[in-house]
Amino acid sequence: MADKFEPQIIGFCCKYCAYAAADLAGSMRLSYPSSIKIVQVPCTGRIDVIHILKALEEGADGVMVAGCLEGECHFLTGNLKAKKRVKSVSKILQDIGIESERVKMFNLSSAMGPRFAEIATEMTETIKQIGPSKIKKFHDENVIKLAS
Ligand code: FES
Repeated sequence: MADKFEPQIIGFCCKYCAYAAADLAGSMRLSYPSSIKIVQVPCTGRIDVIHILKALEEGADGVMVAGCLEGECHFLTGNLKAKKRVKSVSKILQDIGIESERVKMFNLSSAMGPRFAEIATEMTETIKQIGPSKIKKFHDENVIKLAS
């Protein structure tokens, strides 16, 4: 079953580094799994806990947040704030019995196209191993119950 499961992963990518690295990976014709749906953000510091939780609630099996290398954020500490928020979401997931590996932060530079392909593959493999997320199903069932 794990072989047939094609995860949906949202990749919030900072435009200055991870997004550019993804672009570079494309230009270098490096292949990475199509499971990663990239959302370009001006800085990972713009990603709040609610954005990650909402992505999971809407059906993502995993969320990766990819920002500049530590010390190289164009907004100084955006990636450090994102790191704390990703950690908070991991803890929330763990507390409610959901695999904390569904969310992960990565740091890379715009020149790291091959690294982008690697992290996309790594994240996809992790999510394939833990299987589909039950968060959306749980959310939908409970919203329907509340609405009726
Ligand atoms: Fe890239 Fe802040 S500008 S993470």
